[in-house]
Amino acid sequence: LDPEQTPYSTADPASFAWTTARDRWPIIITQAIDDAYRTVGACEDPAKQEEGKKIVAELAQLKYEVQHDRALTPIRDDGFPDVAGYNQELEELGPITWLKAPWLYTECYLFRRISTSFSLSTHWKDYDVFARQKIKTFRSSRPAVLELASRYKDLVTQLRAADKSPDPEADAIVFAEVCEICLWGNATDLSLLTSLTYEDIQKLQGSEARRAAEKNILINDLPRVYSHLRAARENKQERRVDIVLDNAGFELYVDLVLAGYLLSSGLATTVVLHPKSIPWFVSDVLPSDFASLLSAIADPRGFYDNPTEDDRLRGVEPEKLTDAEVADLGFLFSEWSRFHAEGQLVLRPNRVWTGPGSFWRLPEEAKDLVEDLKQSELVVFKGDLNYRKLVGDVAWDATTPFAKAIGPLGPGSGLNILALRTCKADVVVGLKAGEDEKLKATEGGSNNSGARKWAWNGKWAVVSFSEDA
Ligand code: F6P
Ligand code: MG
Repeated sequence: LDPEQTPYSTADPASFAWTTARDRWPIIITQAIDDAYRTVGACEDPAKQEEGKKIVAELAQLKYEVQHDRALTPIRDDGFPDVAGYNQELEELGPITWLKAPWLYTECYLFRRISTSFSLSTHWKDYDVFARQKIKTFRSSRPAVLELASRYKDLVTQLRAADKSPDPEADAIVFAEVCEICLWGNATDLSLLTSLTYEDIQKLQGSEARRAAEKNILINDLPRVYSHLRAARENKQERRVDIVLDNAGFELYVDLVLAGYLLSSGLATTVVLHPKSIPWFVSDVLPSDFASLLSAIADPRGFYDNPTEDDRLRGVEPEKLTDAEVADLGFLFSEWSRFHAEGQLVLRPNRVWTGPGSFWRLPEEAKDLVEDLKQSELVVFKGDLNYRKLVGDVAWDATTPFAKAIGPLGPGSGLNILALRTCKADVVVGLKAGEDEKLKATEGGSNNSGARKWAWNGKWAVVSFSEDA
């Protein structure tokens, strides 16, 4: 990475890294402890229960180390090849402690450490300590899910009617709208939920909210992306789009809306989805989350109409779905499962996505993956963390062009890259001159501290495209 640039650090009081390490990480670990503790309590197998208790104790120890700014220790070998990379980098960074460390590395390390406690066990290897939270939040985004299901069905029906003679102008508008839905689906990830209520999430998700939020997209390269995909539709038989996924639940749902729309409109003939392989940044998609989402919409009444344990505790009876709502979700399910069954919608996990560093390394360290992505017309990177990894999570000037900030993945790399990112961290590039200053001067934008606070809460977004040619 450009040696001129400084990585964001948990030691910098002006960075979101500071708050994240001191306030958010302990909460995230506590949630993991609570979840594991609850499952351990319900365990019938004594050996599994015993082992579960040990995992809970390890997580508690990890929380202690974070809060007391202890040194990061090498990750224990759990048989996966990424351990060596994590440990080598740790050594190169020299002795570092949690609260005085590069943000990107340390945060990835945190989730890799949590996963080790499970992967090294006998009975808990595949346990996802964040699964409960993910599915619960998906259920609570019901109003937006239903609204979109109905909108999606109309859209696909219209596409079929227009068939071979799509109106190019309308086509471009629909493309932008679907991408924006997909973008804002990222505003509500679970790691920020430590400070948001469910009511807040619902407000963020409806279509009115989306229209109002359009002015919050600071750079919007979607018209260029549309031309790029339309040209491919005119000239190529096979047109692949890749989506490097971010969060499960509502965000995965909107990613599938985008994938389904691309396939139905012929802007793509195949969509490859890239989930994570270990529980990651609380809410990221694992292959099992894809399965849970599909089974929820396969049986919407079973999923929404039955009270959950929480509902019972609060004495709440969920509102029953209408027949029309069930039919809309049924339509989605049949479309998506058909695409999946026919091999047009593919899930392709890779441990590279849960490595410690920036994506600048991919051409060196993940040659096969990069070669594979070169076959794609467009690689969409969802979310904040993927964006931080694309641009290296260093303190670029905000006017640095995106194509420069992604280094070896930029023009000439053979890759066409689109970032759909709501801003939840300090780093941002590609802004017009003066824009960052203007946003810092808004209420709460920096509180006169010089910090880029406006970029911390998912209110603003950037849609940046780097075209290969
Ligand atoms: O905590 C670090 C961080 O990357 C934040 O910047 C962001 O709030 C969150 O984790 C993950 O966001 P996303 O799910 O959009 O990658
Ligand atoms: Mg995420």
